[in-house]
Amino acid sequence: MTDIPLQKGDSTGEAGPHVPVLSRPSTAFLDVRDLKVHFPTDDGLVRSVDGLSFQLEKGKTLGIVGESGSGKSVTSLAVLGLHRVGQYGRNKARVSGEIWLNGKELISAAPDEVRRLRGRDMSMIFQDPLSALHPYFSIGAQLSEAYRIHHDVSKQAAKARAVEMLDRVGIPQPDKRISDHPHQFSGGMRQRVMIAMSLINNPELLIADEPTTALDVTVQAQILDLIRDLQKEFGSAVVIITHDLGVVAELADDILVMYGGRCVERGTAEKIFSASQHPYTWGLLGSMPRMDRERTERLNPIKGSPPSLINLPSGCAFHPRCP
Ligand SMILES: Nc1ncnc2c1ncn2[C@@H]1O[C@H](COP(=O)(O)OP(=O)(O)OP(=O)(O)O)[C@@H](O)[C@H]1O
Ligand SMILES: [Mg+2]
Repeated sequence: MTDIPLQKGDSTGEAGPHVPVLSRPSTAFLDVRDLKVHFPTDDGLVRSVDGLSFQLEKGKTLGIVGESGSGKSVTSLAVLGLHRVGQYGRNKARVSGEIWLNGKELISAAPDEVRRLRGRDMSMIFQDPLSALHPYFSIGAQLSEAYRIHHDVSKQAAKARAVEMLDRVGIPQPDKRISDHPHQFSGGMRQRVMIAMSLINNPELLIADEPTTALDVTVQAQILDLIRDLQKEFGSAVVIITHDLGVVAELADDILVMYGGRCVERGTAEKIFSASQHPYTWGLLGSMPRMDRERTERLNPIKGSPPSLINLPSGCAFHPRCP
C-alpha cells in the first residue's frame, strides 16, 4: 500500500486549531487512531480521552471496560460525531485524531455526512435512555421517524417495522404501546424502546453503552441475544461498554481496558481473562461482578480513586494506586 497524503480539515469541529496530518486510509472497518477528546474548563483542560487507538472488523465485538470516568462514553460519542453538535455537556469538546469507518474518515468529514451515517450505518444504545427519547412524541412516532429518515417507505410500513422492533425487544402488546409517550414506560421498558430505536436500521456499527444495566437478568439475556442476532444476520461490528465482565466474557472477541482516558491493555478476550499483563486489569477482574463466578467469592475493589484528568500522574497513570 502506498502512502496517500491526506490534507485534513479542521479536526476539532468548529472550535480549536487547524491540525493538518498525513495519513492513509484504513482497511479496517472501524479504525480509531490517536483519538483525543479534551474539554476546556475553568479548572483546566480535562483530557477525557487522550491518545486512544483501536480497530474493529465487521462481525466482531469489542468490549471496552474501565472504571467510572475512564472515558468510555466520551469515546463512543466521539465515534458517532456527537461532541461537535454539543449534545454532551456544556463544554465544547476539542476532538482530534482519526476515526475511519468503512474507509471514510469521520473527524474531518462534513457534519451533514456524519449525520447521514448516524442512525443508519452506525448507531448507539445510550447509557441514559431519557437523553435519547423525545418527551413530546409517542414512541411509535419516534421509531417510525428513525426508520423513515433512512428508508423510502409508507407510514404504515414504518409503523409495522416499529411494532416489530418493539416486539423483538420484549415489549408486551407492542401494537398498543406504540402510541404511548416515553413517560408512560418504566425505566427498563424505556431502555428497551431505545434499544429498538438503535437497531431499527440494522446498523453496521453498533455501540452499546451499558445496554443492560437497568434491566433484570431475563431481559438482559434477551437483549444480548438480540445484539448477537443482529451481528449474525448483518455482520455488524459491535462495541459493548459494560461493568459486567460476564457480559464481556460472553460477547466480546477483543477487550480494551481504559484508565484515565487511555488504553492500558488491549487483546483477545481470552488473553485478557487468562493472562492479563497490567495490574489495573488484575484489579478490575477482581472488583467486577461476574455471572460466571461463584457468589461466595469476595469482590476486591481497587483502592484509591480514579486519577485527575487535568493532571494525569506521569509515567503509568495507574502507578499511585498500583499494588
Ligand atoms: N462536557 C464535559 N466537560 C468536562 N468534562 C467532561 C465532559 N464530558 C465528560 N467529561 C469528563 O470526562 C471523563 C470521562 O467521562 P465518561 O462519561 O466517558 O466516563 P465513563 O468511562 O463513561 O464512566 P461511567 O462508567 O461512569 O459511565 C469524566 O471525568 C467526565 O467528568
Ligand atoms: Mg459512561
